[in-house]
Amino acid sequence: MLIYKKYVKIFICLLRASAPNTVTLKVSGTGIHLWITRAASGHNSQSKFTYIPPVGLIDPSELQRPEPKFADKEISMFRDYSIDDNDPIKERVRRTYRNMHLNQTVEFVRNRRDVWLKFNHFKATVREALEKLNDLIDESDPDTSLPNIIHAFQSAERARQEFPEHDWLHLTALIHDLGKVMAFYDEPQWAVVGDTFPVGCEWGQSIVYRQDSFEGNPDGENPLYNTKYGMYEPNCGVDNLLIRGATMNTCIKCLSITSLHCLKLP
Ligand SMILES: [Fe+2]
Repeated sequence: MLIYKKYVKIFICLLRASAPNTVTLKVSGTGIHLWITRAASGHNSQSKFTYIPPVGLIDPSELQRPEPKFADKEISMFRDYSIDDNDPIKERVRRTYRNMHLNQTVEFVRNRRDVWLKFNHFKATVREALEKLNDLIDESDPDTSLPNIIHAFQSAERARQEFPEHDWLHLTALIHDLGKVMAFYDEPQWAVVGDTFPVGCEWGQSIVYRQDSFEGNPDGENPLYNTKYGMYEPNCGVDNLLIRGATMNTCIKCLSITSLHCLKLP
C-alpha cells in the first residue's frame, strides 16, 4: 500500500503544478481514493478515482509456526527434563510428572479404563476431536506451549516427509495424541498427557524423573507389582500390558469402533 501511496502523491504534485485543481487524497482500509475538483469557466467539476490493491491471502498456519523460533536449537536440547526451580516451564513439567508418577497405579488405570472404555462421554468425528486440541496446551511438554493440534499436524507432516510411502503412519501420527481430549471431561492432565509406561511391574529406568518422582506410589511397595515382570508373564505381548494414561490406546479403541463404520486401517 505504501508504494502506491507514494505514486499517488507524485501524481497529485503533477496535477497541482499543471492546473488550478483541488486534489483530496484519502487512504482507507479498502483502497486509495482521489478526488480532483476542477474550477473551469465559473463552475466546479469533480472526478473521483479509486485504487483497490489486490487482496493478499493470509495462510493461518503461518501465524503459529514455531520453526523459526527453534531453528537454532540443537536436537539434543529438546526434551530437556533437567530440574530448575526458577524456570516456570520446567517446574510445570516436573509437577505434572510428579502427580502422574505418584497417582498412576494399577488400580487407578483399571478404574479409568472402566470409565472411559464405555465411550459414553461424547461423540465426535476425528476432525472434531482434533479441533478440541486447539484449546489444550500439554503441561508435560518442555518444548512448546502451543495448542496440541499444532503438534498433531506437525507429527503427521514429519511422518509424511520421512516415510511418504506409509500413508497409515501419517494418519497414526495425526491422531497419536487424540486421547488427550479426555482432559476436557474432568480428567486431570497428569492422567492423560506425558510419556507412557506399563503399570503392574517395575517402573522402567528410562522414565523421566524416575529417580524420585514415584516416591509414595503404593504400587512401589506391592510385591505383586514391583518386580521385573510384576503381574505379567514374560513375553506376554504389548496388547496385554496395562498402560498408564494411554491416550493412544484409547484412541485405537475409538478407531476400532469407528472403523466398523467408515475407516479402514491396515
Ligand atoms: Fe505427542
